[in-house]
Amino acid sequence: MSDPLVPAAPSPLDGRRILLVIAGGIAAYKCLDLIRRLRERGAAVRAVLTEGGAQFVTPLSVQALTEDRVYQDLWSLTDESEMGHIRLSREADLVVVAPATADLLARMAAGLANDLATTLLLATDKPVLVAPAMNVRMWQHPATQANVALLCQRGVRTVGPNDGPMACHEHGPGRMAEPMEILDAIVGHFSGAAGGRPLAGRHALVTSGPTHEPIDPVRYIANRSSGKQGHAIAAALARLGARVTLVAGPTREPDPPGCTVMRIETARQMLDACLAALPADVAVCAAAVADWRVKGTAGQKLKKDAGGPPVLELTENPDILATLAAAEAGRRPRLVVGFAAETQNIVEYAVAKRVRKGCDWIVANDVSPAAGTFGGRDNTVHLIRGGTVEHWPTMGKEAVAARLADAIAVHLERAGP
Ligand code: PMT
Repeated sequence: MSDPLVPAAPSPLDGRRILLVIAGGIAAYKCLDLIRRLRERGAAVRAVLTEGGAQFVTPLSVQALTEDRVYQDLWSLTDESEMGHIRLSREADLVVVAPATADLLARMAAGLANDLATTLLLATDKPVLVAPAMNVRMWQHPATQANVALLCQRGVRTVGPNDGPMACHEHGPGRMAEPMEILDAIVGHFSGAAGGRPLAGRHALVTSGPTHEPIDPVRYIANRSSGKQGHAIAAALARLGARVTLVAGPTREPDPPGCTVMRIETARQMLDACLAALPADVAVCAAAVADWRVKGTAGQKLKKDAGGPPVLELTENPDILATLAAAEAGRRPRLVVGFAAETQNIVEYAVAKRVRKGCDWIVANDVSPAAGTFGGRDNTVHLIRGGTVEHWPTMGKEAVAARLADAIAVHLERAGP
């Protein structure tokens, strides 16, 4: 029973107007549940049903759930006199496309306006969130990937698709995100976009950049991490109101605004700084920590002499992510997020790494040279939380960071104070 003296926390969706475009995919049925959940949280939902969408759900059921009329036709005189398509596209706080089919995404990317859905998507001045849903090969096709990347560059946000068995009996990425995941993305959008600070009062610990492991006083072992991804995550969490401690290896990245930055060089220093920063509500380990260091670092510069090149004996560094994940109750961050840098079998290896390291979520990314992730502007990641895998399209590292920060905010909000 709720305590009458404690006012219920306002829902970030209270009074928000969502324009939901339902396109023609088998996942359209999930929109009925999405509408119900949005309305439960105080949002008003107005729906546009494409010709394809109407093959999967009836206008009557959508109308019953939205308690509003359903818009279907660009050329309907009644529609235009009651609510012109321009007004329809502007009288919303957020446009959500679910399911977003390969065809609709392609038409959005090309800027076509050949039905009501594409016309309003071209005419809108409001943010757009798409939930892709299609066959796995259609999702993986370079044309679809290019279309989604282009839309993301233009500011369109995505949720999903997920991995799993599909209606066409194939298996892989392409399943539309579940209604609760789409809801989370919508909540995350309003918490962040409204200048909300859903992480106020929370402490976030972030690691970023490489570590340098000395060989002698002038030489070291390093890797190619630039710190761009980790620093962007620290900045995104701070924007959402978190107090952020960023433990950074040697990078050229400027300190992100609003973060306390602890600069370190080696893995052991990074571990000490992380442990000193606890307790934290969330830890995100984006640093590329050297797995090994040189055993018995030379006190003086190694000399090139007749004895030939020195043999370097390596010893294992502490694992910071695994240590944080295994910290005792009270000190363990409520949510521990690792990264998995892989060059092959990316999702498969990352799933195993999450279990091995004991973290709650792991963000898998391809670090093969062709992907250009190390030091590059963009990243293509897969978010693995427990048994679910969400494939995100290629995005700028800031966009990856913003979306991860939104997901963290929603998770912590659900988990309570
Ligand atoms: O810095 P950028 O140029 O922007 O590039 C971003 C990035 C590729 C470095 C980043 O997105 C990324 O993938 N970071 C993790 C790199 C890494 O070391 O991955 P890994 O698979 O080897 O390690 C798995 C996890 O364990 C990581 O969270 C890592 O921080 C952590 N780890 C690893 C070894 C160790 N001794 N301690 C750790 O905490």
